[in-house]
Parts: sequence; C-alpha cells; structure tokens
Amino acid sequence: MISRGKRQWLLLAAMMVAAGAVGAAPVAEPNTQVPAGSRHYAASSFPDRIVASPAQDAGSGFAVAWRTAPLPFVPRLELAIAGDSPDMGQVQQLTARSRALQSENGSSQHHRVDLTGLLPDTLYAYRVQGQDTWSAWHHFRTAASADQPLTLLYFGDTQNKNLSHVSRVIRQGWQTAPDARLALFAGDLVSGGDGQDDSEWGEWFAAAGALLPGMAVAPAAGNHEYFEEFEDTPQERRVLGGHWPVSFALPGNGAANATSTTYWFDYQAVRVVVLDGTSALDLGTARTQAKWLDGVLAASRQPWNIVVVHQPLYPLRAERDNTVLAEQVQPVLRRHHVDLVLQGHDHTYGRRGDDRGALPQYISSVAGPKQYRLSAQARATMQPVAEDTQLFQVLRIHQGRLHYEARTATGRLYDAFQISRDDAGKKQFSELREGRIGQRDCPRAASPKGRDDRCWE
Ligand SMILES: [Fe+2]
Repeated sequence: MISRGKRQWLLLAAMMVAAGAVGAAPVAEPNTQVPAGSRHYAASSFPDRIVASPAQDAGSGFAVAWRTAPLPFVPRLELAIAGDSPDMGQVQQLTARSRALQSENGSSQHHRVDLTGLLPDTLYAYRVQGQDTWSAWHHFRTAASADQPLTLLYFGDTQNKNLSHVSRVIRQGWQTAPDARLALFAGDLVSGGDGQDDSEWGEWFAAAGALLPGMAVAPAAGNHEYFEEFEDTPQERRVLGGHWPVSFALPGNGAANATSTTYWFDYQAVRVVVLDGTSALDLGTARTQAKWLDGVLAASRQPWNIVVVHQPLYPLRAERDNTVLAEQVQPVLRRHHVDLVLQGHDHTYGRRGDDRGALPQYISSVAGPKQYRLSAQARATMQPVAEDTQLFQVLRIHQGRLHYEARTATGRLYDAFQISRDDAGKKQFSELREGRIGQRDCPRAASPKGRDDRCWE
C-alpha cells in the first residue's frame, strides 16, 4: 500500500521527468538578458547609473557619478545633511563636470561631482539632476574615526550574466552585511568587446542596484575593462574601454601612466590601495605602479592596509602567469606588512599566505557565474579552494581585529579567518574553521558549451 504523501511525490517526480527537469543537460545562456536590437539601457533624460565612491580621505568627502542622455545644460547635484523631515532644509548645489560617451546604445553624457570638506560620520542626502527631473534622494554616510567599527563587502569578478546571476550574490551580500559602508570589486565587472558593452554596463548597474549610490564603491579595473585596438595586426595593443573613466568618480591619485585605474583612500582604520594588473602586465607599468605603491604604503599610518588587484599574484588556474606583477609588487607588500591582497581573474576561489609567513593573505574570488577549474598547483598550495561557486566576502574591522568571511551565493559560510593586532602593532593570524561548509569541486566534466577547461560559462 503506497501512502498518500508518497503517491504525490511519485506523481511530482514523473511530471518533472516528463517536463525534462530531471537529468536535463545544462544549457548555455546568453551573456545578457538584452535581446538583439533592444536599446533597453540607452541613456534618457532621467539620471541613472548613479554611483558614489570614496574621496582620498573618506571621512571628509565622496564623489558621485551619474549618466543622462546629452543635455543642453550642465546638471547639478544637491546636497543636504539628511534628516527625518521631508523638508531637506538648507541644500547646497554643485555643478557637475560632464563627459560624452558613444556606445551601441547611442550617445550619453556622464557627470561627476566631488563633495569635499564634509563632516565625518555624518549622514548626507543628495540627489542628481536630469532634464526637467531629479533622481531620488540618496543617503551616504561619510567615514567615521579609525576607532569605529567598519564593515565592508568585497566581490570577485562579476563579468557575465550580471542581471541574471550576479544580482543574487550582491543582494545576499547586502542582506548578510546591511551595515557595510564600503564595497570593493576585484574587476572584470563586465565582459565587453562583444558589441554589447553598454548593455552589459547597464546590467552591472542594475545588478548592484541601490547599493551603488549609498555605499563607497571602489572597483579595480580588470583585463575585460580593456579592449584590443588594431586586433590581429602588428599594432595590436590594449586600450582602456570608454566606460571606465566616465562611469566612476574615483580619487584620481594613482600611479603615473595608470591614473584612471590606480588610486588609494583611507576609510577609518584601513588604507585601501587599488592597482591595475592589466596595465602592469601588458602595458609595462608594473615598475611604476610598484614604486607608487611603495610610497603610498610607506606614508600609511593606518593599522590595516589592503591592496586590491585583479590578477592574482599566485595564479589559481593552469597556464596563468602573472610573474612580472609578482616580481615587482610582492617585495613592496612584504616591506610594508600589507594584511590582505584581494584579487579575482581566475574564476575560482583560493586563499593562501605569503611564502614567508601568514601575511599578507592572498585571496582570489569570483562573484559571477563564469567558473574555471583549479590547477593542481593551486590545490596543493591554497586552502580552502572552491570551484563552481559564486561567492562574496564580508570584512569586519574593529578594536584591533580584522574578521574575514567568504560566503556562497546562498549565504553559507565557506571560509573565515581573523587577524588580531596588539597595541605595538604586532599581528596574529588565526584560521576560523567552525561552521564552514565542505570543499566544493566542479561536478561536471564540461561546461554547457562543452569546454572541459571550464566548469560553467
Ligand atoms: Fe580577468
């Protein structure tokens, strides 16, 4: 005699098999949800792609970038100290600097306002102008003093299927750490180079949603932010794509020859330095960037120093070689006792310490759905590692302690450690193994497109 519950389960299983839901081969999906010919993400008179970034001193300023269609005037930003009344009170108006961009979605105008001389740990309200319209009022809190707690988010490569697959990771990250004030991105935000660049950027901004105007957003440039000019000719060279310099309002205090993609800022107890690995590896700026990094770290009086660079100094994937970057940068990281090096590029997860000690911790992660396979070398030298997993990271810094967590797209704990700092500045690294889920390996022989060097597209 079959029970009623079991009968219903068998019926459901039979329906799923009939519908092809069980055992169906994975299908490769397009890189965006934008159908061919659609101009869904074209600029209009309404302001969009609003994103805030930290000033060099995040306690006294931030900057905002946004986009409209070309306007017959220069738009403004309105700023006030946020309050609970709908009356915004005394509002300061600032005029933007604007730059044009041409894409497959037509003409757009990208605006930037730098807000300086602000009060620390203060919640500001701001809105940006379009034609005969304004954005919503957004809230942004300036950084507090170094002794106050800081929570920050870090995302590895987003790159592909930003709307369909990346957005869930960003939402989960924000749900896990609603107190996060700072968001670091490891680069390759979009894939690019496919004639759909602007739609990809549209999806990236849609995926990150309301996080972008209200948090200090600090991205590193990846190789996919570059394109090949004069491809397949002797003149072939890498050129930074047009979207990068106009889409973010970054501090612009970087290394010579890489000024729009390298920068640093202080956020409470942390100095964050962002490098451009592509420029270092392919455009010959590794030495210049290392020298600049040396100066920035030598001048740091911060208890914590974090470096963000797209290409990992210890590659996770076979046949990836970032030797020039490692040769130039690693001695500088060691000399100045950098705590963390946050990286991406290899579309897997892996963490390890330096050859000479626990710090810095080198972390490569991936937020997006494109998943590669770990090399035997990475499996032998890194712990933990992961394939076939979308991840985000939450870092909490307070009272001489840096607490790190890597969590999966569904919020499960994958990796954790802590660095403690005593009053003399001496640091102690400890693994936190409790509550971590087990190692995740790619369960399929090939990606949906049949590539055996990848796990997912
Ligand atoms: Fe990359």
